[in-house]
Amino acid sequence: MRIVLGVAGGIAAYKAVLLLRLLREQGHEVRVVPTRAALEFVGRATWEALSGQPVTTEVFEDVDRVAHVAIGKQAELVVVAPATADLLARAAGGHADDLLTATLLTARCPVLLAPAMHTEMWEHPATVANVATLRARGVHVLDPASGRLTGADTGPGRLPEPEAIAAAALALVGGDDRTRDLTGVRVVVSAGGTREPLDPVRFLGNRSSGRQGAALARAAAERGAQVTLVAANVAPDVVAGAGDVAVVPVETGEELRHAVRSGAKDADVVVMAAAVADYRPETVAGSKLKKTGDAPVLRLVETVDVLRELVTDPPRPGQTVVGFAAETGDAAGGVLDHGRAKARRKGADLLVVNAVGGGRGFGAATNEVTVLDRDGEVVATAAGPKQEVAHAVWDAVRAHLDARADGAAGAGTLPS
Ligand code: CTP
Repeated sequence: MRIVLGVAGGIAAYKAVLLLRLLREQGHEVRVVPTRAALEFVGRATWEALSGQPVTTEVFEDVDRVAHVAIGKQAELVVVAPATADLLARAAGGHADDLLTATLLTARCPVLLAPAMHTEMWEHPATVANVATLRARGVHVLDPASGRLTGADTGPGRLPEPEAIAAAALALVGGDDRTRDLTGVRVVVSAGGTREPLDPVRFLGNRSSGRQGAALARAAAERGAQVTLVAANVAPDVVAGAGDVAVVPVETGEELRHAVRSGAKDADVVVMAAAVADYRPETVAGSKLKKTGDAPVLRLVETVDVLRELVTDPPRPGQTVVGFAAETGDAAGGVLDHGRAKARRKGADLLVVNAVGGGRGFGAATNEVTVLDRDGEVVATAAGPKQEVAHAVWDAVRAHLDARADGAAGAGTLPS
């Protein structure tokens, strides 16, 4: 495949060297298009030697070959890693002031941008708006990983590992046959973590970022499904990452329950990716609780298990219910043992089990999951960027819907 690897001017440019090697090792023809600033980090000689192709940054070089138009038009895939805040801004603005931005304007193939920058830059409203603009146009923008950045600071902004970027990029072009395989399917996805109030200013919450749920919503929409995303306390940039979906924001487990059940009345598939509190404070103080010197004891009461209720009292009979299980494993059993027990206990059609803790799962850009059926049998496994994991989950859901339709047809009844 003819791939353009764009490299913007950030310290993470060194990781793009590894990405280039990976893509070349897989037999792809890679044309590297760095920005001027990128060459401050990794020189032209490195890119030319490893790609085996000439490297230019300007639209005024190679003018006889009209490179600023030809490179983009001939590309079958464009990957930019790292995509800096400045590159995102120029791409969102439709600039063409160097060879890379000109290439982005002329490319008609899938484009994947892998941002890397300091957390403050990533979270700045200007960058959030630029990312939302690009995603709305169909550009695939990965979420940066969290972790150590240049200097002493840590947070979201790290370039995902080259293997993860390569997998996400190649998934964009490899998935032709599944592109619109959820057309006509109505889907509700819950995402994020609920907050159960103690008083007007405090709540019991959890660490769920909503990224996996947003990725699931986005993947389903990309495959043609009509998607409602019930978002429990999900950051605006993560919600924006879900793309073209209807969003219902909620805060508590009870609000989430009502929003999910209301959406599920018209849904073929409900995916419970949200981390719903199992317990909430028994009473909620009407005004801020004051420090009295006596440490209070909190009394909690159990919340309704929304997933279980979808199984026992489905808003629309016959719909497919998918649950999630974030497990750490403990002395009583490993991640999968707990997942199997939960699959049987919850009775959902599919249960997506993922290992969390120790930097895995919550907040991370990548995930590792095993999909179980209601008997606890493994039907799929996936690891990689959350968007790719999301597609693997939908592959399993699609297979489940097909098997069900076959079963219904085989039993002499028409699938609804
Ligand atoms: N879930 C739900 N309503 C709740 C709690 C959880 O719908 N009140 C859903 C989650 O959205 C997820 C699945 O149930 O899809 C698994 O949640 P989890 O908290 O892991 O399940 P529990 O039954 O609480 O198991 P554990 O004993 O591990 O806490």
